[in-house]
Amino acid sequence: MKDFLRELGISEVNSGGYGGGWIENPAGGDLVSSNPADGSPIATVRQVSTEEYDRIIETSVATFERWRMVPAPVRGDFVRRIGNTIREHKESLGALISHEMGKVRTEGEGEVQEMIDIADFAVGLSRQLYGNTMQSERPRHRMYEQWHPLGPVGIVTAFNFPGAVWAWNAMIAAVCGDTMVWKPSSSTPLVAVATQNLVNEVMEGSGYEGVFGLVVGKGSQVGQVMLDDRRIPLISATGSCALGEKVAVSTGKRFGRAILELGGNNAVIVMDDADRDMALRAVAFGAVGTAGQRCTSTRRLLLQKGIASSFTDRLVKAYGTIKIGDPLEAGTLMGPLVTEAAVRDYEDALGKIKEQGGEILCGGKVVEGPGNFVEPTIVKARPDMPMVQVETFAPILYVMEFSDIEEAIRIHNDVPQGLSSAIFTTNMLTAETYLSARGSDCGIANVNIGTSGAEIGGAFGGEKDTGGGREAGSDSWKLYMRRQTNTINWGKDLPLAQGVRFDV
Ligand code: UN1
Repeated sequence: MKDFLRELGISEVNSGGYGGGWIENPAGGDLVSSNPADGSPIATVRQVSTEEYDRIIETSVATFERWRMVPAPVRGDFVRRIGNTIREHKESLGALISHEMGKVRTEGEGEVQEMIDIADFAVGLSRQLYGNTMQSERPRHRMYEQWHPLGPVGIVTAFNFPGAVWAWNAMIAAVCGDTMVWKPSSSTPLVAVATQNLVNEVMEGSGYEGVFGLVVGKGSQVGQVMLDDRRIPLISATGSCALGEKVAVSTGKRFGRAILELGGNNAVIVMDDADRDMALRAVAFGAVGTAGQRCTSTRRLLLQKGIASSFTDRLVKAYGTIKIGDPLEAGTLMGPLVTEAAVRDYEDALGKIKEQGGEILCGGKVVEGPGNFVEPTIVKARPDMPMVQVETFAPILYVMEFSDIEEAIRIHNDVPQGLSSAIFTTNMLTAETYLSARGSDCGIANVNIGTSGAEIGGAFGGEKDTGGGREAGSDSWKLYMRRQTNTINWGKDLPLAQGVRFDV
């Protein structure tokens, strides 16, 4: 067993259920987590049964009744200490993320930094959570709004950011006075168990152990039960559009809330006047980073005609220098895909791309040998190819050409998803057109930086099939609380609003 696993409290066999304490020997069956770089097993996690799930939610509900009455800055102090504990274990948790899901080490540590950053943000927020005061139309009346805790939150996370996305939700929900239960991806249960161990270093013995719960289990079993569970007023889910549809339907039916952070089909537009060195690096990181498995990954590159062929040639050359290999090894730029199924999806996508007339400019092959390695791929494509509309979670980049900014925006917005987007230009008028109401239709629109690698301070999420949710910074916290409008009459009359008279 590797040192970083031991440091994080990972054993050969681990419980996958926590609700105020670890569930001993959960009964939902064994889940073996394996290393995507060579297929070898890392450790086993025992999944929870539906009956154990129920106990965990009961604990979450009971803890909520007390946690909501703890002053928000005191809740913030717990989050501060959790952030500090994660800080102390940044290297080992980063290594585990790389080991279990395959992103390279600097990205694994970057993800942990994102967890620390959101904890810091949430600590500050715990002394804010501001509501407005409104002017009443009636004399001697005061009107204001306050934000109350909502209840237990269900947090459903994907494999690609196995720690950070939990943290975006958990750190904010905790200061808002919510308790929560985390359902991590079945591909990355060890990051969840390790994170829970770090949280427990702070929470155990505090009386509030039930604030942060964990259920490792099958989506078709505990996942669906959670979506239908009326005790959980909010489900925050990250994953595919297909998952999002299930969450939307299940929560909608019971009038629950959902924060959906689903697929992206993110494009970079490069204008003739752009700084091309900068654009090249941004596109390479956006398309190849995390082996194309970010929801913010760059999937489409739109090049203005004048620079299209020279820029494409340079990019193809740059792809040739990318070192593929063990994500824990220094110098590796691209690790494996998460599972063998993801490799098959990559192959299937390439088959369809060729059928639809796409021309493979480089890459396009599965790497022989153990591990889920594939080559990063550039495809010369047309906007009307059906595959260009689809998010394939792999390092496949579609390159297309356009004449002017109007055409670029048209192609850009002509996909079902709307998460992240970017333009490279030195022309202020072009940049502002792109950022205007008739420009990019995405939740994130950048100028002279790429589509991926957003900071936590902004609200993160997107429009259309991306689901419309917002997580992390800005005022995303409002989704984790319930708003109450209060009107107080401190006079001796009872004037009615809108001048209505009702004298009895
Ligand atoms: C995701 O891929 O689900 O902006 C999240 C980024 C990261 C988060 C990505 N900060 O690329």
